[in-house]
Amino acid sequence: MTQDDIYGSDEQRALLRRGRALFDILGQDPRYTYYGRTVGLATGTVRDLDHLTALARVQGNAAIALVPEAEVAALHDGLTARNLVPIAYSRWDGGAASLAAAKAIVRDLPLPAGLTMTRIDADTPSTVLASLADMALGSGVLPLAGEVLRGLLNPAVCLVAQDGEGKVVSCGASAGFAHPDHPVPGRQAYWGMLATDTAWRGRKLALILGAHAMLSMSRNHGIEAFFTGVEPGNTPSEGVCTRLMFARSVAVILGCADPRSLRSGRMTK
Ligand SMILES: CC(C)(COP(=O)(O)OP(=O)(O)OC[C@H]1O[C@@H](n2cnc3c(N)ncnc32)[C@H](O)[C@@H]1OP(=O)(O)O)[C@@H](O)C(=O)NCCC(=O)NCCS
Repeated sequence: MTQDDIYGSDEQRALLRRGRALFDILGQDPRYTYYGRTVGLATGTVRDLDHLTALARVQGNAAIALVPEAEVAALHDGLTARNLVPIAYSRWDGGAASLAAAKAIVRDLPLPAGLTMTRIDADTPSTVLASLADMALGSGVLPLAGEVLRGLLNPAVCLVAQDGEGKVVSCGASAGFAHPDHPVPGRQAYWGMLATDTAWRGRKLALILGAHAMLSMSRNHGIEAFFTGVEPGNTPSEGVCTRLMFARSVAVILGCADPRSLRSGRMTK
């Protein structure tokens, strides 16, 4: 492993390190979530504004994974008033129908000739993760901490498609998210981190890797429910979710960044 196996700009890597450390402090408390970026709250309303603000100031970024639609405007305004940069993602949920769609995709769609699919694990050379990170960051997607991608921390899977020279041209992942005792997200896993090299887009790579990632979480960890966040207007991402039978929820994922530690005001796409 290089450094601590995390990638991104200096600010992004510092943020991932703080998130990982905070997970060690808070990870046993069912209110909190962690999937390899920063610690957040599983659910919340405007009453959690102070709590979310504190998590964002400590780490540089934090999110509430499930905010009822009626609470979004007040939370958004409260975060802005505290000089944080809010970002609302649509929440897309997948369950049995998504797993059925994933099975059909895996059955019917082979990877294009010349590409191979690899699962990242404890023995994967760091050069592969570095290639994944180059491609994902170039697509605006911040890779989860390597410890999660390698499946060393929680139930997780990360798949990459590599060309004949070993260059990563597409990636996707799924990882445990909420504490299993949380009554709402409970055993629902994060699914996403999808990115495809521009030269390979439209060749179903995200669909194939995303489908394999879900089936692997189901087979190996008994996880049957997934969610992802998509910024409204990200049409390709919405297309992948729709094809995999994810349904757009009325609830929202509300993230926020502290521009004093994350000057771009944004952690990832
Ligand atoms: C989103 C992304 C990963 C899709 O990768 P991809 O390998 O090109 O996607 P696929 O070829 O597997 O497409 C799967 C489905 O998504 C939809 N889709 C993909 N690109 C699309 C586009 N530009 N417009 C509309 N729909 C699109 C289609 O429905 C497609 O299925 P179909 O061809 O059977 O109709 C890629 O565009 C990307 O890297 N974007 C930048 C990073 C990003 O936004 N990641 C998601 C963060 S939430």
